[in-house]
Amino acid sequence: MIIAVDGPAASGKGTIARALARHYKLPHLDTGLLYRAVAATVLDNELDPEKEADAVAACNFDEAMLAQERLKDDLIGKTASIVSAHPLVRAALLQRQKRFAAQPGGAVLDGRDIGTVIAPHADAKLFVKATPMIRARRRHAELRDRGSFASLDKVLADIRARDERDSSRSQAPLRAAEDAALLDTSFLSIDAAVQRAISLVEART
Ligand code: C5P
Repeated sequence: MIIAVDGPAASGKGTIARALARHYKLPHLDTGLLYRAVAATVLDNELDPEKEADAVAACNFDEAMLAQERLKDDLIGKTASIVSAHPLVRAALLQRQKRFAAQPGGAVLDGRDIGTVIAPHADAKLFVKATPMIRARRRHAELRDRGSFASLDKVLADIRARDERDSSRSQAPLRAAEDAALLDTSFLSIDAAVQRAISLVEART
């Protein structure tokens, strides 16, 4: 069984994808980490994320990078959203994600284009969303817990900018696949959102 989970930043898609992977005992890939590893490599080597050739060179990132806690930093997320708009960066990371999705026994992948590009034939597709303000509050609390003190207004502005960049790019823009089930987590607890996700998957498989 292949489960595709897409959605914008701080929608809850990562938490839901991890919970689904546990529930169905499937391997899970957070595809955002790949773009974040490219971004961190760009920053470490003082490359320019806006330059496609620079970003492509960083696709050969060190695998150990994927386990680094710092990939969650906001600057890395923002830079990931810039490098991920380059078609050649998406192409460089495509096969790896497709291979993960195609492994025997199935997999859960989360990202922006899983249901549309990486696994268009997934057995179940979820598009997870929540209002920008609620996502900003979640991200703000998360950043505070990690000792970073951006204002809520700044976090909200960053979320809106990231949504805009991810939705307006020409390659694999953030959008729900036509056959995706929508899951709005705005007013759901984590447990309720996970239960709802499981029922949506059950209804589709
Ligand atoms: O999900 P996460 O916030 O870790 O993703 C970071 C950035 O990577 C996103 O803003 C998006 O631009 C990019 N991304 C993407 N396609 C994916 C996953 C992430 O373009 N499948």
